[in-house]
Formats: sequence, C-alpha cells, structure tokens
Amino acid sequence: MAFPGTGKIWMNGSLVNWADAKIHVASHVIHYGSGVFEGARCYATPKGSACFRLDAHIERLLNSAKIYRMDTPHTASGLATAVLDTIRANEFRACYIRPIIYRGYEALGVNPFPCPVDVAIIMWDWAKYLGADSAEKGVDVKVSSWTRMAPNTFPSLAKSSANYANSALIKMEAIADGYAEGLALDSFGYISEGSGENVFLVRNGIVYTPPITASILPGITRDSVITLLRDMGYRIREEMVPRELLYIADEVFFTGTAAEITPVRTVDKIQVGNGRRGPVTEAVQRAFFDVINGEVPDAHGWLTYVYPEQAPLREPVKAGAAKSR
Ligand SMILES: Cc1ncc(COP(=O)(O)O)c(C=O)c1O
Repeated sequence: MAFPGTGKIWMNGSLVNWADAKIHVASHVIHYGSGVFEGARCYATPKGSACFRLDAHIERLLNSAKIYRMDTPHTASGLATAVLDTIRANEFRACYIRPIIYRGYEALGVNPFPCPVDVAIIMWDWAKYLGADSAEKGVDVKVSSWTRMAPNTFPSLAKSSANYANSALIKMEAIADGYAEGLALDSFGYISEGSGENVFLVRNGIVYTPPITASILPGITRDSVITLLRDMGYRIREEMVPRELLYIADEVFFTGTAAEITPVRTVDKIQVGNGRRGPVTEAVQRAFFDVINGEVPDAHGWLTYVYPEQAPLREPVKAGAAKSR
C-alpha cells in the first residue's frame, strides 16, 4: 500500500496539504514512541458514506491520551467533527481514518511533559489488510515467539505507538516465516491477540475470546462482534484461553478495523476445523456487513453519516470489500 501523496491532513485544527504535513526530526514521539492513535473506517454504504463507530474510536483515543497524561484542548465532539470535516475536505466516499495525539517538538529528555501535545488526522484508501481474498479463504497464522506486554509494563488498553514495537516484532517474524499474521500469547502463556487484531475461537457452538486482562487492545470490532453474536443468540465466553484450543477449535477468526473479520485457516500449520471459513465466522461477517450495507436497521447506532445530502449509492459493500471513491 503506497500513499497517494495528495489530499488534506488535519493538524492542530488546520487542514494542510499532504506534502506539507511534516514534523521536526527532534519531536519527542519519533524518539520515544510517545503517541496514541486510532484506526477507524468510513464505508461507502448504500445510504451514503458513514463512519463506523466513530464515537467509540474517539473515546478510546482520549482514554489512551489520559493514560499517558497527555492533555489536549480537543473535546470528543470537536475531534469527531474534525474527522468528518477532513473526510469532506478530501471528498472521500470511503477511507481509513488515522487520528494521532503525540508529543511534539520542544526537548529530548525522556520526560515528555515539556513537549507539546499535538494532534493530527490522516486518512487514505486502505483496502484488505490481510490479503484480497482473506475474508473468504482465511489466513495462515503462527503463534509468535514474542509475548505481548506483561501487565504493568506497557498499558495494553491504550492504543499507543510504543505498543506497536511489540506488534512489529510479531508481524515481521510471521512474514519472515511465511505466514500472514502472528498471534501472541500473554506473559502467562494464554492467548492474547494478533499484531493488529483481536481473536475469537469457536468450539462446540461456544465462542471464546480473551478478556481485557489478557494484554489485549479492547477492540471496537471485537465489541461489535460480541454484540452481534449475542444478538444472534450465541454464548460468548470472555476468558483466558489456552494456546492448544487454537489447534482443536472448529473456527478461529480475527477482528479489527483494518482486518475486519478474517477467518484463520491454519495455526502453526495445523488446520483449523475443515480449513475453510466456518458457519459462525460467516454469520457474523454477514451480520457486520448487513449493518454497513443498510440491509438491517442500525440498531446500535454505529453509523455516522458524513454527507447528509449524499445521493444513495447503487453498489452495496460486499463482505471484506472496503471500497474507496
Ligand atoms: C493490537 C491490536 N489489537 C486489536 C485491534 C483491533 O481493534 P479495533 O477493532 O478497534 O480496530 C487492533 C487494531 O487496531 C490492534 O492494533
């Protein structure tokens, strides 16, 4: 995925050209990972462009900033308005949205307090994260030799740039070994999450997912999937999951804004179920995209429309196909 290098980026309240959205090399965030960020999506729905769970993403962003003692003058509603304004300024029908709050340019001691808290909102076209046909065919995954952050080291509930040093190690190892993604255990040896996704397992009709105490990011897709599965009558168990349940599960799938809902077909070269997308995975994918496609009412109020006056689009979004303009 290469950036187009055009369009507008929101920086501290102003829209600037993509090429001019620069920070100084002595900015604190570059040296010490002192940033917190979000990843959200705007979908081209039949009723017009709509952000999926924008409020939840902004809330998590501000919570991440609070954990890292970053005070920003921007309110939740101000940031949501800034996201919508930036989509409109770029005339996107669909896009990936990346707000970031970071420690900027002032001094380079470890202490971040002297450095300003800056905010930017970047957006671009980002289609299938784990491969073009991954939503149907699934992906091959390995259990990483890297462990997720232990409790009381890096806060996993904060989506901080620093946490992604660990994610990058997991991802690089997986790619170098020929897998699409790595799945990390927590420091106690229980299943935690992928480098950029939460994970669900299905066995004998029961759905399992690690709890927030398993060093996971509390995913907004994870929360949406739990809600949809409960709506459909499934039993969900948020509990510590032993590694070996991956090998004997009927289904395993990842959830995340970038990956959406992606089946896992093998773990450590052991086939999951029959090696194809399972019925629970398919049902929850359908339920998720039914909301986005307006096939069912937006019962949980997850969609924020960007252009109120926009004419309906003819093509609905297919599962796993986040279209751009
Ligand atoms: C480490 C990690 N876990 C889980 C997720 C899924 O979170 P969400 O569904 O909010 O995108 C992400 C996505 O950003 C992630 O980076």
